[in-house]
Amino acid sequence: MANLFDPITIGDVTLENRIVMGPLMRNRTPDAVPNALNVEYYRQRATAGLIISEATAITEQGQGYSHTPGIYNDACVEGWRQVTTAVHEAGGKIFCQLLHVGRISHKSLQPFGDPPVAPSAIQAKAKTFVIYPDGTSDFIETSMPRALKPFEISGIIDDFRRAASRAMDAGFDGVEIHAANGYLIDQFMRSGPNQRTDLYGGPLENRARFMFDIVGSISREIGPGRTAIRLSPVAPSNDIQGDKPQALFNYVASQLSAYDLAYVHVIEGATGGERNYVQGPVPFDYEQMRETYYRTDGTGAWMVNNGYDRQLAIDALEKERADLICFGRSFIANPDLVRRLRINAELNPVDQRTLFGGGAEGYVDYPVLGG
Ligand SMILES: Cc1cc2nc3c(=O)[nH]c(=O)nc-3n(C[C@H](O)[C@H](O)[C@H](O)COP(=O)(O)O)c2cc1C
Repeated sequence: MANLFDPITIGDVTLENRIVMGPLMRNRTPDAVPNALNVEYYRQRATAGLIISEATAITEQGQGYSHTPGIYNDACVEGWRQVTTAVHEAGGKIFCQLLHVGRISHKSLQPFGDPPVAPSAIQAKAKTFVIYPDGTSDFIETSMPRALKPFEISGIIDDFRRAASRAMDAGFDGVEIHAANGYLIDQFMRSGPNQRTDLYGGPLENRARFMFDIVGSISREIGPGRTAIRLSPVAPSNDIQGDKPQALFNYVASQLSAYDLAYVHVIEGATGGERNYVQGPVPFDYEQMRETYYRTDGTGAWMVNNGYDRQLAIDALEKERADLICFGRSFIANPDLVRRLRINAELNPVDQRTLFGGGAEGYVDYPVLGG
């Protein structure tokens, strides 16, 4: 029976334990280039079996929030190289989470002040986070997007491929494709925001095509054993809506199994909220999705997230519902989370005030046991 502290090999990468630090946007990277403060933050958390970086934009067009990192030029690669080196020196492993926000952006964050792009010209009832030049910040409405032209779609698939290649140059152990939480790939997958009538819209197989094109392109570029994906079958994040999530994600699982991915990462319920959140008439059956993946000969590890504490995590491994457990907020507040879970120590609470933006406070100054 698997234990949280047992090593595991996922694709081409071996992890010290099954405790994963989730992707956490912290908005402390002005100019999109990781800096010394970011290096220190990740270094402190390197005892996680795996760190997944905060969402990292594949292009400037893929940016939707102020002061978030990118992986689209040499300076970004150099900045990330400092992070990956520090994590490796501390004995950890780190994947880069690749993001294109699609319509979850504001004109002021886009190149030339252009509208953000989306499958269809439908505005999200959602907010983004901006930091103004004077240092003040605010959550503001996302802008009206424009629909992507067919030729632009292949360009974005290629942007994902190039970003994955740059992530490898920066020393990452692999990449996680961000297909969750209402960003561009999720926007394509759902019938609400995707009203296209071409090959990328309509039936669920068409809506999932963009995601599979990206998975294929990245797998060919860096190898499937260094490629992973994050999905959130029912999360309503960023005004995402669509019909028949079970049919969609069973299909996704049955097709993802054709790639020998490092792992499939599933957010259960509403991200950061109700684990039992229901979209549609019936609760989502995560077990059915997982079984579909393995029945169709999927070989990747299964990672779960959302509201896991020590006991839930132990149960999930014991019942073989998952191979890896991803912790988000508790890693923000507990750099030594692995040690605390091992000895069943109390956890530091998260300071909500310092989640997004700012400096060292609430970022690299959370206390460690005996520190
Ligand atoms: C401050 C903050 C930033 C987040 N940034 C990201 C992100 O960049 N990418 C992502 O996929 N999820 C992001 N999430 C969601 C978390 O990865 C995770 O799914 C969520 O916190 C639920 O896990 P938990 O209950 O262990 O915290 C973020 C959550 C928080 C609280």
